[in-house]
Amino acid sequence: MYAQLVETGAKRLKTMEEMSPEEREFQEKVDAETKIEPKNWMPEGYRKTLVRQISQHAHSEVVGMLPEGNWVTRAPTLKRKLQLMAKIQDEAGHGLYLYSAMETLGADRDEEIEKLHQGKAKYSSIFNYPTLNWADMGAVGWLVDGAAIVNQVVLQRTSYGPYSRAMVRICKEESFHQRQGYQILLDMMREGTEEQKAMVQDAINRLWWPSLMMFGPHDDESPNSQQSMAWKIKRKSNDELRQMFIDQTVPQLEFLGCTAPDPDLKFNEETGHYDFGEIDWQEFYDVLKGNGPCNRERINTRKKAIDEGAWVREAAVAYAKKQKQRAQAA
Ligand code: 3HC
Repeated sequence: MYAQLVETGAKRLKTMEEMSPEEREFQEKVDAETKIEPKNWMPEGYRKTLVRQISQHAHSEVVGMLPEGNWVTRAPTLKRKLQLMAKIQDEAGHGLYLYSAMETLGADRDEEIEKLHQGKAKYSSIFNYPTLNWADMGAVGWLVDGAAIVNQVVLQRTSYGPYSRAMVRICKEESFHQRQGYQILLDMMREGTEEQKAMVQDAINRLWWPSLMMFGPHDDESPNSQQSMAWKIKRKSNDELRQMFIDQTVPQLEFLGCTAPDPDLKFNEETGHYDFGEIDWQEFYDVLKGNGPCNRERINTRKKAIDEGAWVREAAVAYAKKQKQRAQAA
């Protein structure tokens, strides 16, 4: 509960006594697991944190379409092509749900997307890595969507109603994303040539650590976590979610007959969890600063898509206006 978080020395959190009556009533609602809805009073900081997190989540879904879009025309079979197209379309829909949830907080979609294009808003670091071959499609589905599922299943219990309900819909589709990715790798490991098996291991070697970075910095390095946990925006910490992901993924890795690029990865009988090596945080923050392998390419592609799609948006708005005029004239 909130009071315990304050006791644990969470420095920046107000005590219940320091809160205004509205803040105290709001916190009591959050503590009682009552969903906060758009029309409810909320602290400005709560609203701002949600706009930040949900907009960046939406950006991640939309930019996340690019690494896989790269392989639609080169899928090895029609079935794989259809699965990949379905997955990419799902990600676009996830972005739309999330931009809509963000707009319930009074944020403007075009403004938030412009912040992304100007490098003033983030999207998940993982999408700044290249997808070099078909095994990467499997590793992205299995590891990236697998990590996203761990995060998003817990986010279904976030305190903000529209975000929580968007997560319920998104999680239903994510499970298919992860399974189709794992199936790609399983097929390659079972029926592939030695070269194809080596491709699978290489894809895991390249995407393993960037997938762990998706959960964010360590809890004690996270400027947002304490307050987000107190407001139950976040229900589990970055490190807790990362550990959950590793614990569930290592047995799947072993079933594939592959290894992780981490010599320190080892099951700890005492804790019941996997111990693992230290993430290269220099790499993490370099990518966040825009210096990842594909940052510029991803943003330029998004800007081009927005420019080239302007006529579609203009036509849709013109049509909607005409329809409204017709309805008013009728
Ligand atoms: N990539 C980019 N930025 C990251 C990051 C990552 N992997 N991890 C952390 N950050 C950023 C945070 O946004 C924050 O910067 P900001 O204050 O400017 O926004 C800073 O690093 C410090 O991190 P914190 O842990 O303090 O920030 P949060 O409390 O916001 O936690 C988070 C970060 C865990 C990513 C949280 O925002 C979250 O759970 N977001 C919702 C889930 C999400 O966005 N997932 C991204 C992937 S979506 C996806 O994969 C789609 C799937 O269909 C493929």
